[in-house]
Amino acid sequence: MEPIRLGVVGTGRGKTFMHPQACTGFKLCAICDRNQEKLDLCKKAYDTDGTLLTFTDFDEMINSGAIDAVVLANYFNEHAPFAIKALKAGIHVMSECAAINTLAEGVELCRTVEETGKIYMIAENYPYSKPRLEMKRVYESGEIGQIQFGKGEYCHAMQNPETYRISPGECHWRNLIPATYYCTHAIAPIMHITNTMPVRVNGFVGQLKDQSYRGLEYRHMDPGGMIVCQMDNGAVVNTLQGAVKVHSGITEIYGTKGGMSIDRESGNVTVWHENVDKGDKPNMRTYTPDWPEYGDLASQAGHGGGDFWTLFYFGKAIQENKQPWLNVYRACAMSCIGILAWKSVLDGGRSYDVPQWDNEEDRKKYENDNWTPFYKEGDDLTGKPPSAVSWVPSEEAHQAAKAVWEARHYWGLGWDGKTIDDNYAKVKV
Ligand SMILES: NC(=O)c1ccc[n+]([C@@H]2O[C@H](COP(=O)([O-])OP(=O)(O)OC[C@H]3O[C@@H](n4cnc5c(N)ncnc54)[C@H](O)[C@@H]3O)[C@@H](O)[C@H]2O)c1
Repeated sequence: MEPIRLGVVGTGRGKTFMHPQACTGFKLCAICDRNQEKLDLCKKAYDTDGTLLTFTDFDEMINSGAIDAVVLANYFNEHAPFAIKALKAGIHVMSECAAINTLAEGVELCRTVEETGKIYMIAENYPYSKPRLEMKRVYESGEIGQIQFGKGEYCHAMQNPETYRISPGECHWRNLIPATYYCTHAIAPIMHITNTMPVRVNGFVGQLKDQSYRGLEYRHMDPGGMIVCQMDNGAVVNTLQGAVKVHSGITEIYGTKGGMSIDRESGNVTVWHENVDKGDKPNMRTYTPDWPEYGDLASQAGHGGGDFWTLFYFGKAIQENKQPWLNVYRACAMSCIGILAWKSVLDGGRSYDVPQWDNEEDRKKYENDNWTPFYKEGDDLTGKPPSAVSWVPSEEAHQAAKAVWEARHYWGLGWDGKTIDDNYAKVKV
């Protein structure tokens, strides 16, 4: 088949998709970033035959006729409007997480995928790490029965100045993101392994009385966002994400006939069955699983191989003209639990229903729900803070962060494109 002509927007995370393996079916044809400096560096690194086009304007890229598909690796909270535009321009979309920033965006996104018939996929790579694919295989064999309880974690512990470096600008999404929002890496593996969907959600975040441990932290995020989901088979799943101070990323499933987990230290899979009442010894095995296929290619990719599989399944979906497992409905479901859990946090832990994204009658209820903690100048922030304890970084933290941004030539290209000083002047929550 002719290669699928790929465009990528965003030259940070986006670089992961700029050297596609031949078996994915893609050829990189265009890249887009409004930061010319980063764009030039990527052109140099990834233009293998002198034909790679560069754009600073997304609309120009999607209307250029040069691409069939696009990967969206722009800002976390701006994916849906880009996806909708691209789909309407006849371009298949793979969107980085999160798929949506508001429930209203989710409604519009689902409708647009249905109307255009173009392929849409969320680039959620965590279900496709080696141990999680093995857990899916074990689950589907029936060995541990049906999920009753699950636990998923994604906490990327980081210190300053690394956090400053990856969050350039006061309004950069990483500085404003509430603790429940970066949730897809924690929930998606459980949805994928067990083929279940979250239907009801509530949320909690750490609200330590003594906040002094945050020191010169610049992010507003409260530590440790916890989401509790009721799944569509009745199981309960608990996810942990956000700025806790230790790295954690395990997936655990307790089924009706046994349990399985990722070993924290080795990353191997543990499967167990036990009958304590009878005095049996726990029947437990821990082992290093194999890849199902394309192991050599997957092993070379980032995030435990997951970065290979997302592009592979996106290409396959386009070639077969069939929406992938990580389709728009699952993309919206796994993304919206972070939004709903945050509403729950600010509402004393109240539970919220997850919209039925494939049901127009149900999702219509959310078509005007534009609630978001990511703000622009002049927005009314009442009831939409990014921190439950109203924590605000200190002036000292701002100066420390600003020094790093300037040294790295981030001249204020935060999410609204204003200068660092403009941003600082305008945000005082
Ligand atoms: N799946 C994963 O493992 C994984 C890992 C890292 C990041 N991500 C996701 O990828 C996305 C990007 O992450 P990042 O760390 O690269 O973020 P980032 O904020 O560092 O980079 C975003 C890039 O997009 C560019 N951009 C923003 N708006 C643009 C516009 N309108 N036109 C052109 N370019 C624009 C910016 O200039 C910047 O270079 C986020 O949604 C993040 O959640 C996913």
